[in-house]
Amino acid sequence: MLGFVISPTLDSLFLLQYIGILLLAIHLPFIFGIIGGTNLSVFFNILDKKMPNPKSRRFSQDIITQITIHPIIGILLGILPIVVLTLIFFQFLYGVPNKVIQIWLWAAILVQAISIGFIYGYQKVWKYRSQHFLLQLGLGGAGLLCLAIGYFLFLANKNWLLYPEYWFIEVIPISLCFSSNLIPSFLGFISLALVATGAWIFIRFRHGCFDMENPQEKSYVQFCHQIGTITVSIGVIIQPIAGLLDVILLPKVAMSWAVIACYMANVVAAMCICLTLVRQFDKIACYKWITMFVLLQIGIYIGYDHLTRTNALQEQLAVLDRVAKQNMPQFNKPKGSINFISEGKEVYEIHCMACHSIDGQKGLGPSFKGSYGSKRIVASKGLEHEADMDEAYLHNSIINPSQDIVRGFPNVMPALNLTEHEVDVVCTFIQSLR
Ligand code: HEC
Repeated sequence: MLGFVISPTLDSLFLLQYIGILLLAIHLPFIFGIIGGTNLSVFFNILDKKMPNPKSRRFSQDIITQITIHPIIGILLGILPIVVLTLIFFQFLYGVPNKVIQIWLWAAILVQAISIGFIYGYQKVWKYRSQHFLLQLGLGGAGLLCLAIGYFLFLANKNWLLYPEYWFIEVIPISLCFSSNLIPSFLGFISLALVATGAWIFIRFRHGCFDMENPQEKSYVQFCHQIGTITVSIGVIIQPIAGLLDVILLPKVAMSWAVIACYMANVVAAMCICLTLVRQFDKIACYKWITMFVLLQIGIYIGYDHLTRTNALQEQLAVLDRVAKQNMPQFNKPKGSINFISEGKEVYEIHCMACHSIDGQKGLGPSFKGSYGSKRIVASKGLEHEADMDEAYLHNSIINPSQDIVRGFPNVMPALNLTEHEVDVVCTFIQSLR
């Protein structure tokens, strides 16, 4: 898993961040509907079995058909974005020491894919519900369980991957779940799903879609709106509490004032949703306002996620750099870019090639081939001693050529007027000559 698709410069990592935002914006509204809608469908399905009621039954079937749309949509909006998102995280984290976490992340995606399959199964066997009630319920229940486990794992691993503070904790799955802000962030995720599902209900069961002259239809729409109101209310009540806990437990590297501002904005949006529910309940335009505020909340959620990750990015780069240094010396500069080597080669060709070869041939000065990390005898102020060519030695030989003189060579290397950057890149180049 060593190697990048794109070289890990800050710019390309930021570009990936934005692709990630786009993916979340596509994925979240759909998956929130699936989470809340399946819950409601299973709940009203059981309710109807216990206390037969045509409205419960109709709602249970309507909501699951409305939210699942089509299996192809399930793959495109539900599964594909998280696969790509995971690959993006890996790009951020090339060479992460904890391969175990990466395996867990794939496991999370697998479980999520299975859950989507179960949920479509549940929806498909609605036709045969009267004969195969338990089979149908089993599919729905298994789908919900897998969905919960899948997202729990996904959030857990995302936290681990993105906040290097956690990388060196021992990899015990249970500590993976409880050593971070995972529980509140999962709770926040679920509560947002509830609010979003409520908005979904208000949109799909709005007055315009039904014949309001027909009393039976009218009372069904009212029934659906009550469910929508309760769903939104539960979500809106849990959200600020979960959000506050999340902010408190957020890893240090991810914290900033903008993160707190996001939290406050979310609370304001939640209050607006409550006001809409209270004041406009019977009015027809209610769903427009609720939808708008819920979309706002999803936007804030994505912004929050993005901000915390961006803050952690610098820290990640530092950790990456350390890891990269151990694995590949040519990535040993903070920018970690492969360009350093080609730039260094140019500097070498202009300033050093006359005296230093890179093929092992002895010139006026020693060859650079395989020199990095090897030992030599040098004389410093006339005293001979053994020296390793490490980073400090290499750097110093270029800046202060006459301080250490390699045995068997004349003290003729000039002090070249190189910029700091030129010295950096040429060092990287020499280190790459194994
Ligand atoms: C005029 C010839 C000359 C040029 C040009 C020159 N060097 Fe040298 N360099 C030497 C000589 C001779 C030595 C060995 C004596 C010493 O250690 O000073 C040496 C030693 C070194 C060493 C220590 C090598 C070892 O094996 O311990 C390094 C590193 C080095 N040079 C880097 C550079 C770099 C980088 C450049 C170009 C930016 C450069 N030199 C340009 C002549 C040169």
